[in-house]
Amino acid sequence: MSQHIVLLAGDGIGPEIVAEAEKVLTQVNEQFSLGLSWNHELLGGAAIDAHGVPLPDVTLDAARKADAILLGAVGGPKWDAIERSIRPERGLLKIRAELNLFANLRPALLYPQLAAASSLKPEIVSGLDLLIVRELTGGIYFGQPRGIRILENGERQGFNTDIYSESEIRRIAHVAFQLAQKRNKRVLSVDKANVLEVTELWKQVVTEVSAEYPDVALSHMYVDNAAMQLVRAPKQFDVIVTGNLFGDILSDQAAMLTGSIGMLPSASLDQQKKGMYEPCHGSAPDIAGQGIANPLATILSVAMMLRYSLNAPLAAEAIEAAVGRVLDQGLRTADIFSEGTTRVGTKAMGDAVVAALAG
Ligand code: IPM
Ligand code: MG
Repeated sequence: MSQHIVLLAGDGIGPEIVAEAEKVLTQVNEQFSLGLSWNHELLGGAAIDAHGVPLPDVTLDAARKADAILLGAVGGPKWDAIERSIRPERGLLKIRAELNLFANLRPALLYPQLAAASSLKPEIVSGLDLLIVRELTGGIYFGQPRGIRILENGERQGFNTDIYSESEIRRIAHVAFQLAQKRNKRVLSVDKANVLEVTELWKQVVTEVSAEYPDVALSHMYVDNAAMQLVRAPKQFDVIVTGNLFGDILSDQAAMLTGSIGMLPSASLDQQKKGMYEPCHGSAPDIAGQGIANPLATILSVAMMLRYSLNAPLAAEAIEAAVGRVLDQGLRTADIFSEGTTRVGTKAMGDAVVAALAG
């Protein structure tokens, strides 16, 4: 049966990078006779402009029916002033929640060719290969009550609720342990159990689940220490599992260790491994429309999509190998450029990956 993908280019650099990912998709679809089909829908600011809401019903319906979703990025200053409940980011959070995409996989893998682009010394980062498993549909991002209220004395007060039920913790812990079994068999659970009850429960439940995975070593770290260890000795990590907010922060930090956040793909999966795939970086409005954005994170997101949701591991490997070859050729977008390499734009980078695939 043929499989269908929904492409959500989104805002800022989203359309530029998704266009390059689409070229790569076209190439592997033919080369590996995958029989994939796809179409575009709107999400984020682009959807607000067209329909007045960041996640229109037609987009949500198409995403529900699709076998996988590829997303560029959402948001930008143009929509920052509008009412909070219909801002672009709300569209992203809503699609995650509606499709139950609770497991967010954010690998941080350093390509040897880019060791010099990292802000850390090469000996600290070379060989880095860690995976952050971030819970994506719970915690303080979605907890109720939330809001900004006016107190009796007239002062404004903002509040959110960090809340996790046992079942939410259990299912993300299983994902982390199962991924660790296919890697280096180590899971680090990140919490703030010395202060927050919600993460005290997190730590207990992850420990309970670990009993079912005797081949995987579990350890725990407070989030402040984890943030420090990530820049001190990042190679100590294999799989890091954590809640929504800590995962948001630590995954940007881990991404930067690899030289550029422009290199990192991500997957957000439901229980059936249906998923939405997106680069870890945002919509980068400051460079949108200039043709200089790095499309590799989105192209590598296509590889993850082929592997996790579309059962096409060979095509996934071919894309990853093609990206390696393009880096070997010395091609670099501005974000990963260094002395002695060749600076190219978004389109030239996408074309080079297609050529490496075909060649
Ligand atoms: C991410 C982003 C989103 C998040 C924003 C855009 C809502 O930072 O995917 O990490 O906080 O989850
Ligand atoms: Mg983030």
